[in-house]
Amino acid sequence: MKNYFLFALFILSTQINAQIYSLPSLKYSYESYEPFIDAQTMEIHHSKHHQAYVNNLNKAIAGTSLEKISLNELMMYASFRTDAIRNNVGGHYNHSLFWEILSPKEMQSAIITSEFDAAVKAQFGNLDSIKTKLNQAATTRFGSGWAWLIVTPDKKLMITSTQNQDNPIMDVAKDRGIPILGIDVWEHAYYLKYQNKRADYLNAIWNLIDWAIVSEKYNSALNDPLLAQIEKDSWPELKEFHKVMGQTFHPSESGNIEPLRKRSGELMAKAVILNNSVPPASLNKPEIHIALETLEKQCVEIYKLKNKKVKDDFLKKKIAEAHETFHIVQGLCHD
Ligand SMILES: [Fe+2]
Repeated sequence: MKNYFLFALFILSTQINAQIYSLPSLKYSYESYEPFIDAQTMEIHHSKHHQAYVNNLNKAIAGTSLEKISLNELMMYASFRTDAIRNNVGGHYNHSLFWEILSPKEMQSAIITSEFDAAVKAQFGNLDSIKTKLNQAATTRFGSGWAWLIVTPDKKLMITSTQNQDNPIMDVAKDRGIPILGIDVWEHAYYLKYQNKRADYLNAIWNLIDWAIVSEKYNSALNDPLLAQIEKDSWPELKEFHKVMGQTFHPSESGNIEPLRKRSGELMAKAVILNNSVPPASLNKPEIHIALETLEKQCVEIYKLKNKKVKDDFLKKKIAEAHETFHIVQGLCHD
């Protein structure tokens, strides 16, 4: 009996662990978004479509090491994920943001943050201009997808769009940044009321967009460390170097110097390319260039040492030093 009880507990615990993500509640009842979005659409969209993304995401990561990483990390490296993870993690994140920024008109506050107000005025003139441009992005998005207002790593506002359930946090997106406003342009978001008239749905949705919440999201995005991560991830030469550094340094830590001996030429070449590349705007600072210069010298030295057939331990020490310099670059980039 006791064994059955323990077995039942074990089954239950695996099921609990498998449910990492859950469906967020809406702030208002399904009817509250009428007449701009009908209650039936809201209910199906939230309780069926979004719930399915959550269920499928939990299923896709169940029992894998991906259960332990953050939602942002799941999205950041979308190109390395399976289609099931990419589609469902995007589906979950995108819809969660969408529900957050929609409020019935009578519940909206007219007060937006002064920082957001200033950014809108400086870049777009006014909110109407953002609406027009976002409608344009949403109308011209072929098939299913999303139109976005994002904060880019250089802390600017930008309008963009992505296909399917992708979003600008993902490394598959053309324009990257943190979304602060997203408009769902899948047919499931509007078809029951608006049928094929996407433009009518887009005109109506502005009645529900809560600018006060969008403006708070702008302020949070400005201080979000994710912006620096996205920026670094958008520096292709750094990514390329990192790959070879990881594949040579990590084996050396456990005493296997062979990958480094075989690939020291490649490591040197990537270090030279990295040192000659142009870092993204906010990382383009003297301390980064000094570290990159040192890194290049260290990698050149490793390549020359390899040809002199020095002992493994000495090479191990040298690659550890270069690895440390590389982490100075990474560390400084966070500043
Ligand atoms: Fe949707």
